[in-house]
Amino acid sequence: MSDMSDDIKEILINKSEIRKKVKQIGKKISKDYEGKELMLVGILKGSVPFMADLLREITIPCSMDFMAVSSYGSSTKSSGVVRILKDLDFEIEDKYILIVEDIIDSGTTLSYLIEYLKGRKAKSIEIACLLNKPERRKVKVEAKYIGFEVPDYFLVGYGLDYAEKYRNFPYIGILKEEIYK
Ligand code: IMP
Ligand code: MG
Repeated sequence: MSDMSDDIKEILINKSEIRKKVKQIGKKISKDYEGKELMLVGILKGSVPFMADLLREITIPCSMDFMAVSSYGSSTKSSGVVRILKDLDFEIEDKYILIVEDIIDSGTTLSYLIEYLKGRKAKSIEIACLLNKPERRKVKVEAKYIGFEVPDYFLVGYGLDYAEKYRNFPYIGILKEEIYK
């Protein structure tokens, strides 16, 4: 029987490292947004595990919503085109918005989203991102919270996919090149 973990070259960030980092970020957010009306906006689908874990480390009142945007399809290179597939359910006027995302790669998705949400009169719009791949940046994006800086490998697990697979892995792994080449 084939095991999906055979497709992983190396575990880059393990389960307990993720847990520890998410705890730290949650604690920081709880402090920074104390007394403010915080709303987490998860970007489907990659942010789901991070969102679910982070949410439970936040100790102040907060609400959540989701957006879906088109990104990679099943290739490993960004097209640079962003399409909104699902918009927010709630108004964000006067709220403190924290966009929760799995990874910043070229920066295209998040810079587009920030621009897109700008006109809606939120008090602030910031980003919490689990991973950052600075080497690949094409568009400038500032994230208030970043879990880990990662090298330029194609990563899967903990929400990150290749062709919709591997999102369920509890760790972040480097995908073997032969899988996508
Ligand atoms: P950006 O618009 O280029 O910053 O791309 C952001 C999106 O690309 C992320 O939300 C991911 O869905 C996807 N992505 C970027 N790098 C990786 C990776 O290493 N593995 C899986 N998905 C990735
Ligand atoms: Mg994504």
